[in-house]
Amino acid sequence: MEGPVNPDPGFWAGRSVLITGHTGFKGSWLTLWLSRLGAKVHGFALQPDTDPSLFHLAADRHAVTRLGDVRDLDALRACLDESRPEIVFHMAAQSLVRASYDDPVGTYATNVMGTVNLLEAVRRTDSVTAVIVVTSDKCYENREWLYAYRETDPMGGHDPYSSSKGCAELVTAAYRSAFFPAQARCRVASARAGNVVGGGDWSADRLVPDIVRAFGAGRAVPIRNPHAVRPWQYVLEPLCGYIRLAEQLASSDGAAYAEGWNFGPADEDCRAVAYIVARLAAGWGGDATWTASPGPHPHEASFLKVDASKARARLGWERRLRLDDTLDWTMAWYRARLDGRDATRLCLEQIERYESLGA
Ligand SMILES: NC(=O)c1ccc[n+]([C@@H]2O[C@H](COP(=O)([O-])OP(=O)(O)OC[C@H]3O[C@@H](n4cnc5c(N)ncnc54)[C@H](O)[C@@H]3O)[C@@H](O)[C@H]2O)c1
Repeated sequence: MEGPVNPDPGFWAGRSVLITGHTGFKGSWLTLWLSRLGAKVHGFALQPDTDPSLFHLAADRHAVTRLGDVRDLDALRACLDESRPEIVFHMAAQSLVRASYDDPVGTYATNVMGTVNLLEAVRRTDSVTAVIVVTSDKCYENREWLYAYRETDPMGGHDPYSSSKGCAELVTAAYRSAFFPAQARCRVASARAGNVVGGGDWSADRLVPDIVRAFGAGRAVPIRNPHAVRPWQYVLEPLCGYIRLAEQLASSDGAAYAEGWNFGPADEDCRAVAYIVARLAAGWGGDATWTASPGPHPHEASFLKVDASKARARLGWERRLRLDDTLDWTMAWYRARLDGRDATRLCLEQIERYESLGA
């Protein structure tokens, strides 16, 4: 396979898709992209918990929304019965490491039992042919190795969020072998992506939103772990991988794709938090700056990389934006939004530009 492959509009045109977590950051971008590809997008999630939210600004009118909680199996079943999706992207999650220290029980309930409920609802709905369960690069047992984790490495997690994503992987693997064998109508895969940045994220306690809020208010941004190295990638990179994976899962040899997949950046894009902040501060201009936030802070991994060789070789997926481009696209989005540009337009322009970098 040659070069990064774009999503196939012929595949998506008129197809019914369900995204859980479509009111969140990645879910809003995915809603816009799939709707642009011609899919009929249904969404199941809670109300957005940030103000502003990309969902209300840009994605709301591109999906049929059912508000509900993934901890409620009956609500999920009703949603699948009504929307009858062919493809399901399961992204609903308590997605923040710090919040998982404050509410471990809620984090496990949403991320683990939410995944059980979603797969159970899929099992009882005959329309679904492909499911992508979105977990995280943090699902791996992190040994602070210098090399990147492969799909076959063991699951783990030092904190409730990471371990809940490892558990969601184990749940997915068990449902696959117990209920969705190779010859079954529905194929189930999981996707493990790295730290995602991009325009339109206003979550609390995430690096780029924290930076944008502080710079916008003329404050120095306090940074918790300046030396932590993360696999940064633009939001469209893993989403492109999820879309490609869904296309392959639903194909005639889809059973071969029903497994775990890493979507991570190139080695040189795994940089320390301090680099990201300094680069964004320079791009923002003025006297934007940062300070090291005094601890103690709850444990967060200091080194983490995932190996995306398999996605490159078998899905034709490749990162298209280098880290500096990723940061430029991110700041350009927030800057344009501050200047009053329409959020939907901004996202669609970046999606078009991203596709223009592929085949
Ligand atoms: N953003 C990242 O850097 C990153 C990195 C790796 C993996 N992920 C994973 O990707 C997925 C999407 O991430 P995001 O950044 O868009 O997160 P987000 O926090 O912006 O959105 C989370 C979504 O899940 C929904 N949700 C939360 N609890 C729910 C519940 N109990 N019932 C129903 N819906 C619920 C929210 O309403 C929202 O739509 C998550 O599974 C996250 O763990 C994100």
